[in-house]
Amino acid sequence: MIKKLSRNDLCWCGSGEKYKKCHMEQDLLLMDMKRKGCQIPPRKLIKTEKQIDGIRRSSQLTCRILDMLEERVRAGVKTIEIDSWVHEATVKAGAYPAPLNYKGYPKSTCTSINNVICHGIPDETVLQEGDIVNIDVTCILDGYYGDASRMYMIGEVSDEARKLVEVARECLTLGIEQVKPFNRTGDIAYTIEQHANSHGFSTVQEFGGHGVGLEFHEEPFVPHYGKRDAGMVLVPNMVFTIEPMVNAGSHKCRILADRWTAVTVDNSLSAQWEHTVRVTGDGVEILSQL
Ligand code: MF3
Ligand code: CO
Ligand code: CO
Repeated sequence: MIKKLSRNDLCWCGSGEKYKKCHMEQDLLLMDMKRKGCQIPPRKLIKTEKQIDGIRRSSQLTCRILDMLEERVRAGVKTIEIDSWVHEATVKAGAYPAPLNYKGYPKSTCTSINNVICHGIPDETVLQEGDIVNIDVTCILDGYYGDASRMYMIGEVSDEARKLVEVARECLTLGIEQVKPFNRTGDIAYTIEQHANSHGFSTVQEFGGHGVGLEFHEEPFVPHYGKRDAGMVLVPNMVFTIEPMVNAGSHKCRILADRWTAVTVDNSLSAQWEHTVRVTGDGVEILSQL
């Protein structure tokens, strides 16, 4: 049994401040929202300053690795080579690639080409002029996870492919703009889906963003489709990813026999961008950027 905190007790968050000067007001607001039926975050999802520093450092390493790839990813490169570059850069920085052996995943990164939505496994496949490829990198640095991904266009790509990549990036940006205290995951979801739909594209439903930082995948699930005013309430120092997967055709996906690779059912193109973000006192901080 935990004693209910009094105004003058030290706050539960470990700041060393009195409860009344720290999280008391927020807790009262959240209790009210809970009474009205909102899903509110458990305290364990609110990171400490120390944890945020660690997640920021890890996410920035992820960003630097994705930067490094910008110069190298081009026609003629095998996805397995990309995987080894990511692996080496991660280990060299004193970190570990989170995907490797995660639930049996065999490689250090995901490389998802053209109709592959996500979780493409690096192999002998050679990138071709006109391909679009998502590379998804997650570092574990000092025990903290930083997760981000980008699209890379190989040489000249079709107008449709370029448009899809751009719109997916706008979806991420617009989704991030919805992140502020007391907004909800549904506000992110709705904004992203509407933007994709307005260009005739769809958003994937089976996969989404996720809490991240102390583990690879934490609560909440952050959908990229659905209604406003739904899902978990956002509060300062929650950390999660937004990672819209946008399809040129149907939103539906199918998993290949390798039990990882997710592809579009209609073989239409798919594009994805991902950042790790933190809710601040009045908005958002993108952790996976320099
Ligand atoms: N990085 C992916 C994400 O954004 C997860 C990859 S899981 C793996 O959530 F096992 F495929 F690596
Ligand atoms: Co992620
Ligand atoms: Co990722």
